[in-house]
Amino acid sequence: MAKTHTRYVCQECSRVSASYMGKCPQCGSFNSMVEEVVHDEPTSKNPAVRGLTGRSAPRPISEIGGDAEERIHLPIGEFARVLGGGIVPGSIVLVGGDPGIGKSTLMLQMTLEMAKTKRVLYVSGEESERQIKMRAARLQEGKELPKNLLLVTETNLEIILNHVNDVKPDLLIVDSIQTVYISQLDSSAGSVSQVRECSSQLRELAKTRNVSVFVIGHVTKEGNIAGPRVLEHIVDTVLYLEGDRFQAYRLLRSVKNRFGATSEVGVFEMREGGLAEVTNPSEAFLAERLVNAAGSTIAVTMEGTRPLLVEIQGLTSPTQFGNARRTPNGTDFNRLLLITAVLTRRMGMKLAEQDIFVNVVGGLQIDEPAADLAVAAAIASSWKDIPVKADAVLIGEIGLAGELRMPGQMAARLREAEKLGFKTAIVPKAIRQGEPYPKGIQIIEARSIHEALDKALVEEKSKRVE
Ligand code: TYD
Ligand code: MG
Repeated sequence: MAKTHTRYVCQECSRVSASYMGKCPQCGSFNSMVEEVVHDEPTSKNPAVRGLTGRSAPRPISEIGGDAEERIHLPIGEFARVLGGGIVPGSIVLVGGDPGIGKSTLMLQMTLEMAKTKRVLYVSGEESERQIKMRAARLQEGKELPKNLLLVTETNLEIILNHVNDVKPDLLIVDSIQTVYISQLDSSAGSVSQVRECSSQLRELAKTRNVSVFVIGHVTKEGNIAGPRVLEHIVDTVLYLEGDRFQAYRLLRSVKNRFGATSEVGVFEMREGGLAEVTNPSEAFLAERLVNAAGSTIAVTMEGTRPLLVEIQGLTSPTQFGNARRTPNGTDFNRLLLITAVLTRRMGMKLAEQDIFVNVVGGLQIDEPAADLAVAAAIASSWKDIPVKADAVLIGEIGLAGELRMPGQMAARLREAEKLGFKTAIVPKAIRQGEPYPKGIQIIEARSIHEALDKALVEEKSKRVE
């Protein structure tokens, strides 16, 4: 093996030092020195050509084979969709997410499927082999466990690489990157230097041996992702498993993918028997909706290329003490403030002394402004105690003047709404000609939030007739 030594590099100003220093002597930042492994013998004598191989020669673009990447079939459809169609041999994928969200479960379910045709090595630094086996047995519900799925509890990367040498797997799972370490570095497992070096070595392994590597990384809600953030540059694909821990739905989202579309989303439901695919998420999200209840509206949000219908609930309630509270659950706080301000100023609604709660049903997080109109209608509907048309979806971004703006991919959103049986859509007035809207849904155009709410809220008269 090539000789190596370690050094410390300041993350702020790149100052190099042989030993650790709490304060960088160059830029003065504290705790910015991170340990690194240096390979003493460069791969080539001439540093300028380091990294180039004999294979590389410029060719005309027209002569380069354009076949899609060869992929290993993955029988879990929602997972394959997020990866861009299947597992790419020799790729390295990071699966991030909060602790306890279901990453190990998802990986185990995938490996149980893959081991039917491929050789799989599952390395865990978190759970014992017995624990994993018990979980696997439960996931398989008594079905025979595959012989080609090998388990080992190990955290030393050198030993893990030896195991890979012996086992020669097609697929390697490392659960989690925060638990593995190499002994050359002094810092403990989970530190930036260990995470970076270990994942670089795993990438080397993936590329040279054509093994597909899945690395699990824990992320905390506060965004303290020292580990995975460092990793994002090193890996080919970054997936995040997210969802509300108290709700059953889990979203697997790709935030980076060298082999497919990003921001693609797979939807799962956590059940007794593990993660079950939700192939029709809009239907699932709307299943428990109370029709004709004041404060409930339907928004259509785009998750990657997939439109999703979600119920948005609003509730206004007189403030009990002092300042009125704004509590969004699943939407952006600042967006909610803006919408509230527009409702107050442009619609004359007296919301200053009302607590406002907004909830996105199903545990989804919607950051898209396209949901503004639905959020506004949910609040207005609750405040006026008048339900929103039950068979209508509301789509549109709200501007400060109370005008409605057109979000992208309207046709796709409307097709999904039509498919799920919605009869009307209240949308911003189209100024430009875009992709034609579907025929089976009545389009009601509105220029302003005023017009939209006029059309969305069921009139008092018709309410009395019912
Ligand atoms: P886990 O995969 O261990 O989370 P992570 O690896 O992301 O830390 O998932 C743990 C949670 O999932 C735990 O709270 C129990 C729940 N769970 C189920 O509800 N059903 C199941 O079949 C399994 C295996 C786990
Ligand atoms: Mg785990």
